[in-house]
Amino acid sequence: MPKKVLVIGGCGFIGSHIVDGLLAAGTAVRVLDRRPEAFREPLPGVEYIFGDFSDPFQLLESLEGVDAVMHCASTTVPSTSNIDPVADISGNLISSVRLLKLLRQMNIGKLVYLSSGGTVYGVPQADPVSEDHPQNPISSYGIVKSAIEKYIFMEQELHGLSAVVLRASNPYGPRQGHTGIQGIIGTYLWKLARGEDLEVWGDGTVVRDFIYVKDMADICVAALNSEASGVYNAGAGEGTSVNEIVEAVRHATGRDFQPTYKVARAYDVPRIVLDIGRAQETFAWSPKVSLVEGVAESWNWVQSQVAPAH
Ligand SMILES: NC(=O)c1ccc[n+]([C@@H]2O[C@H](COP(=O)([O-])OP(=O)(O)OC[C@H]3O[C@@H](n4cnc5c(N)ncnc54)[C@H](O)[C@@H]3O)[C@@H](O)[C@H]2O)c1
Repeated sequence: MPKKVLVIGGCGFIGSHIVDGLLAAGTAVRVLDRRPEAFREPLPGVEYIFGDFSDPFQLLESLEGVDAVMHCASTTVPSTSNIDPVADISGNLISSVRLLKLLRQMNIGKLVYLSSGGTVYGVPQADPVSEDHPQNPISSYGIVKSAIEKYIFMEQELHGLSAVVLRASNPYGPRQGHTGIQGIIGTYLWKLARGEDLEVWGDGTVVRDFIYVKDMADICVAALNSEASGVYNAGAGEGTSVNEIVEAVRHATGRDFQPTYKVARAYDVPRIVLDIGRAQETFAWSPKVSLVEGVAESWNWVQSQVAPAH
C-alpha cells in the first residue's frame, strides 16, 4: 500500500472524492491541479500544488517523495475534443507520456489512470461490453485515452511500472459541475434547482451505465492499494435509459416537470453498458449505491449549493 499518493486532477469532480477516500484510509495525499476545488475549501492535511501537469518542472516537484500516482486530469471532454484534436493530443497524450518518463526517472512504480469506458470502445458490438471489446473510438478524447493506455502498458512491459487503467462509465454525484457539457444527472439537478427546463436529446431511450462517484472513488483507492495491474471497466454494470433518469430525478426532487425532447445527437450511441466482472473479482469491489439513493444524495448536495443567500 502506498504511503503517499500524488493525485493529478485531485481538485476535480472524481479526483476530490478519491482524495477523500485516500485520507479516510490514512494515506498521505498531494494534489497537483490547475485550480482549487470549485465547491470546497482546501482540505486540511492535503498538500496542494497549483500548476499544470504539462509543465515538466511542476510535475517533477509534485512527484518528489510520493510512491504512487493517481492520474485523473483531462483537459477535454468527449463532446468538445473533436473541435481541437491537436490541443487534446498535446494537453493529454504528450503530458501523460512525459509523466511516464518522469515516473521512471523518479523510481515511482505505481500508477492508476482514469480512462473512459464510454469512449474507447466506440460503437459497441456487444452488450455488456468487456475489456476485450475492440477499440474503435469515434472522438479525439477516446483516441487519446486509448493511446495513453497503450503507452502506459508499454511502460509496464518494458520498464516494470505497475499500472491499473480504469475505464470509467458515467459517474455522477456531489461536486459534479453544472456546465451542462458532461453528466446528465448533474445537469438535470442543477437546472431544476435553478428553475430551468430540462432537455432530452432524442426520444430518451439512449442507455448508459451510471456509477455513483463514491463507488468510482472506492475502486480507484482499491486499485492504488492493490498489487494487481491491467485494464478494468469501472461502472455499475447496469444500463439506465435517459427516460429512467428523468423518472429518478422526478422521484428524488419531488418536482413536476416535462422535459423538452430535441433531435437526437449523431454521436450518441444507443446503448453502452460495461461488464464489470473483472474489477469485481480483482479488487473485491462492487458498486454499493443504487441510482435512487445516489440521485437523492446528489439532489441534497445541489440544493445545499443553491440555497438562497440571506
Ligand atoms: N466525468 C465523467 O463523466 C468521466 C467519465 C469517464 C472518464 N472520466 C475521466 O476521469 C478523469 C476525471 O474526470 P472529472 O469528471 O473529475 O473531470 P474534472 O474536469 O472535474 O476534473 C479534472 C481536474 O483536472 C484538472 N486538470 C485538467 N487539466 C490539467 C492540467 N493540465 N494540469 C493540472 N490539472 C489539470 C482540472 O482543473 C480538474 O480539477 C478525467 O481523466 C476524465 O477524462 C470522466
